[in-house]
Amino acid sequence: MASSTSAGNRPINAPAYVKNARLIQWVQQMVDLCEPESVHWCDGSQEEYDSLCSQMVDTGMLIRLNQEKRANSYLARSDPSDVARVEDRTFICSKNKVDAGPNNNWVDPAEMRETMNNLFKGCMHGRTMYIVPFSMGPLGSPIAHIGIEITDSPYVSVSMRTMTRMGKAVFDVLGTDGEFVPCMHTVGAPLANGEKDVAWPCNKETKYIVHYPESREIWSYGSGYGGNALLGKKCFALRIASAMGRDQGWLAEHMLILGVESPKGEKAYVAAAFPSACGKTNFAMLIPPKSHEGWKITTIGDDIAWIKPGADGKFYAINPEAGFFGVAPGTSEKTNFNAMATLKENIIFTNVALTDDGDVWWEGMSKEAPAHLVDWQGKDWTPEIAKETGRKAAHPNARFTAPAAQCPSIDSAWEDPAGVPISAFIFGGRRAAAVPLVVEAFNWNYGVYMAATMGSETTAAAMGKQGETRRDPFAMLPFCGYHMGDYFNHWLQMGHVIDNPPKIFCVNWFRTNEKGEFVWPGFGDNMRVLEWIVNRCKGQAPAKQTALGWMPSYEDIDWTGLDFSKEQFQQVTSIDAEMWKKELEDHGELFQKLQERLPKALVLKRELMQLSLWR
Ligand code: GTP
Ligand code: SPV
Ligand code: MN
Repeated sequence: MASSTSAGNRPINAPAYVKNARLIQWVQQMVDLCEPESVHWCDGSQEEYDSLCSQMVDTGMLIRLNQEKRANSYLARSDPSDVARVEDRTFICSKNKVDAGPNNNWVDPAEMRETMNNLFKGCMHGRTMYIVPFSMGPLGSPIAHIGIEITDSPYVSVSMRTMTRMGKAVFDVLGTDGEFVPCMHTVGAPLANGEKDVAWPCNKETKYIVHYPESREIWSYGSGYGGNALLGKKCFALRIASAMGRDQGWLAEHMLILGVESPKGEKAYVAAAFPSACGKTNFAMLIPPKSHEGWKITTIGDDIAWIKPGADGKFYAINPEAGFFGVAPGTSEKTNFNAMATLKENIIFTNVALTDDGDVWWEGMSKEAPAHLVDWQGKDWTPEIAKETGRKAAHPNARFTAPAAQCPSIDSAWEDPAGVPISAFIFGGRRAAAVPLVVEAFNWNYGVYMAATMGSETTAAAMGKQGETRRDPFAMLPFCGYHMGDYFNHWLQMGHVIDNPPKIFCVNWFRTNEKGEFVWPGFGDNMRVLEWIVNRCKGQAPAKQTALGWMPSYEDIDWTGLDFSKEQFQQVTSIDAEMWKKELEDHGELFQKLQERLPKALVLKRELMQLSLWR
């Protein structure tokens, strides 16, 4: 074994087909810095995937599930300190602080580089370093971008194969001088000589998720979970890509993309931004209710959209991902049949419960919980124990990693490198009150105002308090890689780049009654709202003017097959002037924070809103 103290030019074992000089130089530097025991260049093959999974079964990082119930599928249990994104440990290190904006944590890049170099020094002792080449977007597509993740986590390596186009072919596209985003990752848990590894290595005390937007680099330390560690997703496809989009005239958004086909065979695509754990995956895979036979929903993506203006004056969107990293709790055959069908094989589950016959379970999967489970922390769990202690079988942010191609509703154009044309943008939050079921903005700038000022209750997708309402502009608060005021301005500008910009809508599936229950049935019944939305885009649906925008009357929605009274409709669509006074105050507070870069057009819109609400 190589001595862990030897410095400079350790072997990197690059395969002959790797010809990119910058890449080879970078890997050499990182090997010398991190001092791994060995280096593995991922080729993305099935054999490699299977062999890494088997190795993880041997080390206890993965549990192989019952082959008959979930073929080629595994369960991972993370450390309880490492279960979600860490927003307070996420940094945008732009050269100037003002460019990161008040929406991001900022540290001077020179200072952060020193911190990172110290932390990463020797951080891979006793571990294998994996070099993971991946493409966000179809390989070789003009809108795709390449990243190389260096990681010491085999779990991250196999997850990246599902979530991105990962493998050897990326090096062909990269060639000798192609560009890539370097994504550096470590779990931050070096092993001493002979030290036995734990099932889920991570650094309980220290975590850093660092982005350098100008040089387009990512450094992630201490976590092995989700968006903290699968660096193609939030770090690259949102934080870095949003900065690229600002510079190059396109949009990187926290949006699902779905296709909606009417019984007449007319097809439209819409993109919708909801904050984390607020319903994107479910909306993207919606199955229309029986009353809406003939309507068909198809899925392009469930989390991220890259949107570029086309030569024909329309926006075109692609899903840069190749898999779903979806929330497990609440997912059932009833609420999301397509997701359940996607989860039959080739899945890595994380932090769900294990059944006695080697399958998985989570809260909401079935009405009755199994009589006995092993919970996400490896402890015995029964419905009785849950009743007494309130302990959940699955962590609220338990997730599945699933190949998108396995989804029955996947759209035939989901890998079209040209993307699909977008007819409407939808923005939605989780709001117990104030925000109505659906409202259409009067025009593009009003729509930008609505998206910019939207609020949502915090969820288990991020560490920290849950259920607190905060402003989450465009569902991008944790993901915008630059000043939010500049981002608003970019959106306003993009409305002019396009001939006839898509209509903008706001929705809220989550209004509650006095008992705290959701009034709106949600899930498949969201089709009823979507029908109104696509018909509005075609100029074929009536609406009434309100202070907030255009809204449907009770008669404008097709209620066939659903028992939803006028009173209930009133409950989910009413506009309470007192509440909106408070809303506008909150908008004002947000604007105050962003004022140095806040577009004047939005200040004006707020004044107009004030006028129309208290006319
Ligand atoms: P991220 O992957 O974190 O970005 O989340 P997401 O926006 O894709 O959220 P997802 O669709 O996974 O939904 C999160 C939770 O909200 C799940 O527990 C769902 O069951 C629940 N949910 C989704 N849609 C609806 C809805 O229409 N009504 C209600 N009441 N709950 C919903
Ligand atoms: C989110 O939090 O919005 C997610 C999950 O989609 S993660 O990839 O962990 O960010
Ligand atoms: Mn997300």
